[in-house]
Amino acid sequence: MGLINLFQGARLICTRYCKLFGLIILFVSSHMYAMNSGLKSDPPKKLKVMVTGHKGYIGSRFVSEMKAKYDIIGYDLVEGDDILDYEKLKNRMKGVDVVVHEAAIPKPTPGKSFDDYFKTNVQGTLNVIKAAEANGVKRMVYASSTTIYGVEGGIPFDYPIHEDQKFVSQYIKADELQMRDIDLSYHISKVMAEQVLAWYGLNKKIQVIALRYGPTDHVNLGAHVSIENVIQATDLAISNPHVFWYEAFSIVDGDVDFIDLSKAKNMLGYNPKPANYTKDQTISSFDKRLNLKN
Ligand SMILES: NC(=O)c1ccc[n+]([C@@H]2O[C@H](COP(=O)([O-])OP(=O)(O)OC[C@H]3O[C@@H](n4cnc5c(N)ncnc54)[C@H](O)[C@@H]3O)[C@@H](O)[C@H]2O)c1
Repeated sequence: MGLINLFQGARLICTRYCKLFGLIILFVSSHMYAMNSGLKSDPPKKLKVMVTGHKGYIGSRFVSEMKAKYDIIGYDLVEGDDILDYEKLKNRMKGVDVVVHEAAIPKPTPGKSFDDYFKTNVQGTLNVIKAAEANGVKRMVYASSTTIYGVEGGIPFDYPIHEDQKFVSQYIKADELQMRDIDLSYHISKVMAEQVLAWYGLNKKIQVIALRYGPTDHVNLGAHVSIENVIQATDLAISNPHVFWYEAFSIVDGDVDFIDLSKAKNMLGYNPKPANYTKDQTISSFDKRLNLKN
């Protein structure tokens, strides 16, 4: 009898404590799951964004406006970081989600040779996208230019301008060339850099968005874009939830009526704000450009 009571008592204790033990395990594991899956109140993880050329005009403004939204890593020659140093670039890109590639010789610059443009703007861009692909970066946003359409001094272009317009080299005749060597060098380097990115986007499936900014905070041959609109478009390109293997967008102010912005508006949600900088820095006018066509 005593033995039976002993067994029953042990069973009772075991059932009770097993239940209690089970409840504790359930509580602890669900708590750990919630913590791991971010269901608790963990703040959402910021995208890690590398900005090449982050000490430059556009890069530095972008960083100061966006540093609260993104976890930003800079990479600039003025700090000793050269995009032509592939191994260093690749190492620094570890864990990066999106690259914003601003580093370049950013305009036709007296004294620069075609080789200089090729090295920095084309080979440099190849290094950046190659390092991005090697690191599993999801998307690259490239600082392209309306120079793609041939708006630098003396190059004729068709208008209104759409993204699928031919590049100058596809229709220009040698005896029509009226621009400086450096204008053509800058133009061709930006075209080639975009084509390098197109190869990676289409072939290697790394997302590429080329933003063809107009002259930023100044007017050149009638085209212009405020730095605020450049930053807005760049931010939209980083965070857009759609997949873009290679897409290019013109990015200018809303009142530049000879450049069609409908693609950027429809696909990126670009909403250019009225420009509030003075337009007295006009380098040349669109009328002058039109006269060149005749
Ligand atoms: N500013 C404009 O009006 C304009 C218009 C259209 C497109 N863009 C494009 O936007 C980008 C940024 O232009 P920006 O006006 O800010 O130019 P910027 O000259 O002010 O800045 C470029 C930055 O790139 C860095 N850089 C140059 N070579 C480098 C290298 N080898 N490695 C690492 N860093 C290097 C420079 O040190 C500089 O800080 C460029 O690609 C340019 O072609 C500019």
